[in-house]
Amino acid sequence: MDPLTLKLQAQSAISETENVKKLEELKITYLGKNGLVNQMMKEIINIPSDQKQNFGKKANQVKQEIQLLYEQKLQELSQEGKQQEWFDITMPGKKPTHGHLHLVSQAIEEISDIFAKIGFIRARYPEVEWEYYNFEALNMSKNHPARDEFETLFIDAPVNEKYGKIVLSTHTSSGQVREMLRVGQPPIRMINIAKCYRRQQDITHTIMFHQFEGLVVDKNISIKHLKGTMDYFVKQFYDENRKTRLRPFHFQFTEPSFEVDINCAVCLGKGEINGKKCRTCKQGWLELGGSGMVHPNVLKAGGIDPNKYSGFAFGWGVERVYMMRSDVKIDDIRYLYENDIRFLRQF
Ligand code: DAH
Repeated sequence: MDPLTLKLQAQSAISETENVKKLEELKITYLGKNGLVNQMMKEIINIPSDQKQNFGKKANQVKQEIQLLYEQKLQELSQEGKQQEWFDITMPGKKPTHGHLHLVSQAIEEISDIFAKIGFIRARYPEVEWEYYNFEALNMSKNHPARDEFETLFIDAPVNEKYGKIVLSTHTSSGQVREMLRVGQPPIRMINIAKCYRRQQDITHTIMFHQFEGLVVDKNISIKHLKGTMDYFVKQFYDENRKTRLRPFHFQFTEPSFEVDINCAVCLGKGEINGKKCRTCKQGWLELGGSGMVHPNVLKAGGIDPNKYSGFAFGWGVERVYMMRSDVKIDDIRYLYENDIRFLRQF
């Protein structure tokens, strides 16, 4: 085929092409190793020698032109391709993952809301505390054996003559006298929710945990107010059918003192299911935490006259109370603080 005819043929074929795939096929047909252009080039042997030079020049020119036509078309088609690219605005997007509060923070918010409804004001006191507020002010004098139960962590710091050593607060009760001193005169209705620290670690204890401490001081406050408040809390936090009972106990900072129990949700307080002992509770009841009527010495330490005023207090573990909810099935408290996202996402 003579160069000019080949060029015209290639030109019309390329210009009619509508997509890149066809264009690539044409490239092979014309410009490939055994393509029409190369075949034309080989024909040079049959050309009379005086015309060889002219033919070779033309053939090369045609080859370049076809190459150029191919490249232009390729650019054109890929430009169109881009314009055709479209976007479905109705397609659901990728949602960013949504975080949430840690379950202990959720429990703390819930607990403070429940008490806020009956007028308790949230207070916050130091985590790093004087021995005085943690013990002495709570009727536990220096070297009192009751201190042993608190597995205290001490800070390596100079000792203060009046306030003693510095400790990591072992219970939220350390806020009781601070609150009395802050408010000055009753009425007091405090809920103090904070971190506490003790040297204990097993399936029911972590070195750091949380307590919520209630303190009410006013004229004529009696055990009835204490019991009523406990009942109110368990009905709000657990469910309407839950009841509490007060079981005599001993704490240095309250007199009388009680442990508050809640009836078991599994056996409904009976202690047995179909004649078998309930495995969740002890004889139908579960222990929530401590409470009592504020000891006169504690009121005195807070500058309040025990002959005019009385009060009640309670201090319970946030994690413990939360894990006792029937919709939460956590059998080892340490999971709460391992920060395993697979665990935390469930709540
Ligand atoms: N502070 C006690 C503890 O951590 C709990 C407690 C008991 C708090 C009786 C109180 C109370 O306010 O009245 O073991």
